[in-house]
Amino acid sequence: MSARIETLIGRRVWDSRGNPTVEAEIHLTDGSLGRAIAPAGASRGSHEAIDLRDGGDAFGGHGVDHAIRTLAEVIAPVIVGLPADDQRLIDKRLIELDGTPQKARLGGNATIATSMAVAHAAAAAAKVPLWSYLSAGSARRLPMPMVQLFGGGAHASGRIDLQDILIVPMKAKSFEQATEIVAEVYRAGGALMADRGLLRGVADEGGWWPEFSSNEEALEQTVRSIERARMRPGEDVAIAIDVAASQLACEGRYRLATDGIELTSDEFVDRLIGWCRRYPIISVEDPVGESDHAGMRAFTRAVSESVQVIGDDYLVTSARRIAEAARAEACNAVLLKPNQVGTLTETYEALQAARQARWHTVISARSGETEDVTIVHLAVGWCADQLKVGSFSRSERMAKWNEAIRVEQTLGSRARFAGRVAIGGSRTVIAAQ
Ligand code: PGA
Ligand code: ZN
Repeated sequence: MSARIETLIGRRVWDSRGNPTVEAEIHLTDGSLGRAIAPAGASRGSHEAIDLRDGGDAFGGHGVDHAIRTLAEVIAPVIVGLPADDQRLIDKRLIELDGTPQKARLGGNATIATSMAVAHAAAAAAKVPLWSYLSAGSARRLPMPMVQLFGGGAHASGRIDLQDILIVPMKAKSFEQATEIVAEVYRAGGALMADRGLLRGVADEGGWWPEFSSNEEALEQTVRSIERARMRPGEDVAIAIDVAASQLACEGRYRLATDGIELTSDEFVDRLIGWCRRYPIISVEDPVGESDHAGMRAFTRAVSESVQVIGDDYLVTSARRIAEAARAEACNAVLLKPNQVGTLTETYEALQAARQARWHTVISARSGETEDVTIVHLAVGWCADQLKVGSFSRSERMAKWNEAIRVEQTLGSRARFAGRVAIGGSRTVIAAQ
């Protein structure tokens, strides 16, 4: 007989920005325990699950006392007694109990912490790691990491407009080797900044603080960092960017404050296409704002053969939005952030919708993170193509890379690495099949 949920406890813990966040802890009738912590975004899509915060003066309004009470008083009475291995049923109860399109009643932070804690408890009861539990023992593929080198946008007080300049270790043959390559380029990037007198520490996700005078300089310096690490840009290590363009959009135009210009959607798309031609860019996330459907289609149409176009704010981990975007040929890949939608079941449905569209899938952390490593288990257990958790410093990021190394070692000779075919435009999707 499956173990049932005996208690659900809510606890306030603190995230990587020093803000309060929700931890859920679940105890089962057989003594098993599952625990998970909700992350928090800073550049959020407007259709995401609502992060319930207390408001007021304390902790800049980020308090989660209300969400913690919701766990104990509203959620616990509904899920106590349910079998922990029926994730679908439990998530369905959470969705029904909330009853709003964006988890406005319970709060996405309360529901995702609960939903992930349930999965951890069920895996503990089954006495297997979560990644193995999620795949009924069949998982063996490690995702391609996409790692931030320079952090910008909302994660670096808008120092440059582009939010993430990332590197992808294309030549890696294993996850462990991928981290070695990333470590060398990350180190080279820091040394380059130091030599030029531009080293100012790191941004929210651990990438170097981008003390650049233009957005394009960040791309140039990424190429230089790869070369300085004695690797070939494009061939050994490719570039990915997250424009997070909703942050730049204003009344149909795009304001690039670092470059001192304002562009129409067409002009902005042209500029991005130009960057894709001049730099070894393999992936572009949220190239235009979340409601600029025409811009998204135009950009995807122009580059989709060779470049991966990811929807983050544009798709908000919604199966429905993914299916719509696939029909419209806007995007060819999806960023999956469990707290954007609020339950694991809905995150999995989004992943399935992307697979149906033959898109690449990227499991992602948020800029506000903790030691919680659930997303690594999701990426392996669900066989996602890529994993994005920020940069290669700060322990809330390293905890995730290190967990993937552990999984790879546990798998031993059964481990497979997603490799270069797991990222890129539609040409790579076809080649991988
Ligand atoms: P976040 O953004 O600050 O909302 O987590 C990260 C991203 O855009 O990928
Ligand atoms: Zn993004």
